[in-house]
Order: sequence, then structure tokens, then C-alpha cells
Amino acid sequence: MEKYVIRGGKPLVGDVNIGGAKNAAVAILPATILAGGKCLIENLPCISDVMASLQILSELGASIRMVSRSTYEIDTSHLDSTEVSNELSRQMRASYYFLGALLGRFGSGQVAMPGGCNLGPRPIDQHLKAFTAFGAEDSVEYGQIHVRSEHLVGGHVFFDTVSVGATMNAMLAAVLAEGTTILENVAREPHIVDLANFLNMMGADVHGAGTDVIKIHGVKEMHGCNYSIIPDQIEAGSYMVAAAITKGDITLHNVIPKHMEPITAKLRAAGCEVEEFDDALRIQRTGELKPLKLKTMPHPGFPTDMQPLMTALLTLAKGTSIVTEGIWENRFRYVDELIRMGASIQVESNIAIINGIEQFSGTSVTVPDLRAGAALVIAGLAAQGVSVLEDIVYIKRGYEDFAEKLTSLGGIIEEVETEKD
Ligand code: EPZ
Repeated sequence: MEKYVIRGGKPLVGDVNIGGAKNAAVAILPATILAGGKCLIENLPCISDVMASLQILSELGASIRMVSRSTYEIDTSHLDSTEVSNELSRQMRASYYFLGALLGRFGSGQVAMPGGCNLGPRPIDQHLKAFTAFGAEDSVEYGQIHVRSEHLVGGHVFFDTVSVGATMNAMLAAVLAEGTTILENVAREPHIVDLANFLNMMGADVHGAGTDVIKIHGVKEMHGCNYSIIPDQIEAGSYMVAAAITKGDITLHNVIPKHMEPITAKLRAAGCEVEEFDDALRIQRTGELKPLKLKTMPHPGFPTDMQPLMTALLTLAKGTSIVTEGIWENRFRYVDELIRMGASIQVESNIAIINGIEQFSGTSVTVPDLRAGAALVIAGLAAQGVSVLEDIVYIKRGYEDFAEKLTSLGGIIEEVETEKD
């Protein structure tokens, strides 16, 4: 078991490169199944969720060649299975994208009920609603979801809730279905647009991604292509907050400033200076942090995945902040850990009331999930004294070289094996 040992109190200063977007990569990798050919995927982040997706593809029979740490060639011409193994599908929630892609290409797909971060109930009824609208049947037995259809046809789906996963899964299943599909009340995150662009590069006919209606004309077949994944909005946002919380000055490279706007707006309101360039952003904080009210919402609202990081930041603001979680039922579990570091936060249902304090104090905390883990890391970097973070395996699901990148910015963070303590 690895842990982070963090000595806080140093401002983070310098340049950092942002990797490819996790939540685009975990949909684009299963989408290569639809090509039935060779795809070269660039800008893949080197994180455990991507490694698990590649392993699933390999187990299904794809041949995979590593070209560099961030580029893989994936050949899905000859797959010999439509069942994702139990162990791998339970490792990450996004394994559900294999259902849509396998159903789309072979008319059958099976995965275990997905695992991943525990943020409260994580139903997939909207995914199944879309598959049913395309003429598929589903069944759940012994913890396995199986979807199948003799003949997939396009359909009209009005989603009951805005869901990133259901939107992408419906797109994966619909691109090869016969006829036209209309998806309404869809998610508009940058990774939805990225998946649509990738599908179109493979020969699909998808329109409207990025708006709340997506129209898809089914095509008879698709083909391989070369594709580079967009930069990770949440990884970038995490380094922005790391600069803000440590009174630092960081320039982020390989970002799309437009994707960062919901985060940039809140950080400016909290007292940070943000300069935007073509594919870079510079953030610095010199003055005090101001308290804020914020509510997480689907894109282009403030992203839920940044909520734990902003809560950590606002703990050091002068005054009272109110953070409302609008997406997940149970995304404040990490607050107890921040309180152990000195924070004064009360959680009532989906609202956190944060009374600003002067400084965090280092202690031992346990990482409950990916983004909460990142929040505890940045709290540790701002804290007085030493913080020890257990269960950092969650962080590795979504942050490439987190400790190395923070160290290069002047942070003091070391990854140690438990035995070495
Ligand atoms: C994606 O999860 C991300 N994960 C999450 O990021 C992110 O928090 C979330 O979108 C919201 O932006 C991946 O992309 C792998 P949803 P997803 O379907 O697709 C409800 C991270 O830290 N819902 O948009 O699973 C659901 O309960 C992770 O990187 C249904 O009711 O989220 C939630 O309240 C954590 N029925 C809301 O919709 C469904 O069938 C949004 O969920 C599906 C979802």
C-alpha cells in the first residue's frame, strides 16, 4: 500500500503540462470496438482507469501496441468475446461504456455491475432506457448486466436526468443502428463533444454534441482513424486550485481555456488572477481568498468533480462559503477528513457551510475517492506541518504523475510504501 507524505506551506510555482481527459479516454477506448479496424489514440493519460480499459480491450481480443506512454495503436478487427471479465469491470465505473460499444457492433454485450468511486447511488437506468429505445433487451443476473438485440434500430430518447454516461453510451450504441436516433436532454460536457468527434472520424454521422439534442444517422460500417484526446478539464482545474490554495503562481500548458471557464470564473471571484492564452492558462494568488457560494451543475455549470477541491480552497477564505452539490447524493464524505485537518465545515444534506480558518494543520487522513483525494492533497500542500494520506490508489485512477508534477512545482510530497514508515 502506498501513501503520500506531504510537508505543507510552500507556494507552488512554475509550469505544468496537462494530460488527456480521463472521462473522454474511458469512452473513446471502448469506442474503438466500433471501428473494427486500427485506431491510433494519442494524448491518453497514464492512469489506472486507462490501463484497465486497455486491458479489457485486450481480453476481448483486440491487439494493442504501445507507441509511447500516451499513444496506443488498437486493432479491433478480430474480437473474440463480448463479455468483459468480472474483475476488470468492477475496477472502474466507466466499464459500462463497453456495453454500448459491444451492443453497437455485435448486438450483445456483458459487464459486471460497474464499480468506481462511491458517491452515493449510481444507477444506470438511463443507459438501459436508451438501449431499450433502440430495440435491445437487458437482464441482470449474478451481478452481470447483459444487453442484446437481433437488430438494433435508431430511436428517440428523452433522458429523465442529464447523464454524461447515458449520453455517451447511447451514442456508442446508436452509431451503427439502422435509421435515425434523436437524444434529448443530453449532457454537454467537453468529453461528450470529444467522443462525437472521434465517432465521426471513424465514419459515424453524429450532430449536435455540445447542445442538449444529439442527432445520429446510423451508418453501415465504421473504420479506424488517428485521434488525439482533449486535455483534462478536471486535472487542469486541480492545478489551478493548487496554485490558489498555496498562494502560488502556475502556468498550465495543453489546456483549452474555454473548457475551463466555469472554474476560472469561480477562482477569479475567490480573488485569484487568471490569464488566458491560446492553449495555456496562468493562475496566481497574492491577496486573501474571498468566500463564495457555488452549486455544482451539468456543463456549462460548475463541475461536480471540482467540488471537493473548491471546498478545500474555501476553507481558507475569509468568511463563510456555501457549496451545494447538485449532481451526487453523497459527495461530502471527505469533509470529515478536512475537519481532522482543522476545517470548520457543517454538512446538511447536499449543502456544505464552510467557515473560513487561517490554516490547515497536517495530520493523517484517508482518501475516500478520486477527487476527494486530490482535495486532501492540496489541503496538505497548504497545511502547516506534515500530512499523511492513506489509500492513494484512488488518486491514481485519475491523476497522471500527481506527486511528480506537484514536486516539480515546488511542493514537498513523497510517495512511500507502508513498510518504509
Ligand atoms: C461521469 O459519471 C464522470 N465519470 C464522473 O466523474 C462525474 O462526476 C459525472 O459524470 C458528472 O459529471 C466518468 O465519466 C467515468 P452521470 P457518470 O451519469 O457518467 C444520475 C470523476 O471523479 N443518473 O452524469 O456516472 C446519477 O445518479 C468521476 O472523474 C441516473 O439517475 O455520471 C447522478 O446523480 C466521478 N441514472 C447524475 O445522474 C442513470 O442512468 C449524473 O450522473 C445515470 C445517472
